[in-house]
Amino acid sequence: SVIRAGSYSEELVKTAKTIASPGRGILAIDESNATCGKRLASIGLENTEANRQAYRQLLLTTPGLGQYISGSILFEETLFQSTTDGKKMVDCLREQNIVPGIKVDKGLVPLPGSNNESWCQGLDGLASRSAEYYNQGARFAKWRTVVSIPCGPSALAVKEAAWGLARYAAISQDNGLVPIVEPEILLDGDHSIDTTLEVAERVWAEVFYYLAENNVMFEGILLKPSMVTPGADHKEKADPETIAKYTLTMLKRRVPPAVPGIMFLSGGQSEMEATLNLHAMNQSPNPWHVSFSYARALQNSVLKAWKGQPENVEAAQKALLARAKANSLAQLGKYSA
Ligand code: 13P
Repeated sequence: SVIRAGSYSEELVKTAKTIASPGRGILAIDESNATCGKRLASIGLENTEANRQAYRQLLLTTPGLGQYISGSILFEETLFQSTTDGKKMVDCLREQNIVPGIKVDKGLVPLPGSNNESWCQGLDGLASRSAEYYNQGARFAKWRTVVSIPCGPSALAVKEAAWGLARYAAISQDNGLVPIVEPEILLDGDHSIDTTLEVAERVWAEVFYYLAENNVMFEGILLKPSMVTPGADHKEKADPETIAKYTLTMLKRRVPPAVPGIMFLSGGQSEMEATLNLHAMNQSPNPWHVSFSYARALQNSVLKAWKGQPENVEAAQKALLARAKANSLAQLGKYSA
């Protein structure tokens, strides 16, 4: 085979292809306990392990979810958790042919020497943690670092983000996990879409440079890019066709066709914007599977429907299925409002 030998190579390629399969995308529910607490607070719930369990259980036991969702990214607590009736959360996913994934980064801290930017921690002990996650059933991983346009980005911050992602990707593959490579370019700022394009091209060039230097197998990774949009405070909004044109231009210039899937983050877009933008990107054939890995754009209406009340679980699961189906159709380029 032309695929570089390595104990997990074939499995990595298979896992990545399963996740990047037609009409399916990723349900991201890997909020840290602190971030999950913010979601729960929005519906007046306390941030307890029981409430986090109830919420994640609701999401992962949604009947029919596997038709639209191919993978779900979990936080460590959920990977090792069971439902209230004693079933492993991981088994709820596997029954629906949804691949379990795990957030492995340890979050952002200030980057000294930069322009008030940050870097992502988590490489220490990553190999042994990854092996443990694999044993627990995880088959892919996520590492999210961020790049800020209003703060620069400085050459230092971009290099650090790219190098960290590449080291993480190599370690993940070595332990059987398909790495999702996520340098999130934050929406914050009043910059134009052209500025975002220029920064995104710079960031992805460095990410691929270091991925190659670290001998990462491109057939066994997935990307989680931000869409190329104007800054959130820019005077003009862009329509889905413009966002699709800029985003695909950027990806075609920077991402080799060996990469099986592009799984966008929603980054603060509304549920509808995230769906329409994805639909616009799938109006003509792409070299890679172009799909979603949304957290907020899949969960917002679920939280509103649930409100923490057991009698609303069914309605909340219906809300999740509606968003998942809309994004599935958008992945196929067949969504209509
Ligand atoms: P959003 O879709 O809410 O931006 O989440 C992105 C993410 O990285 C979650 O895994």
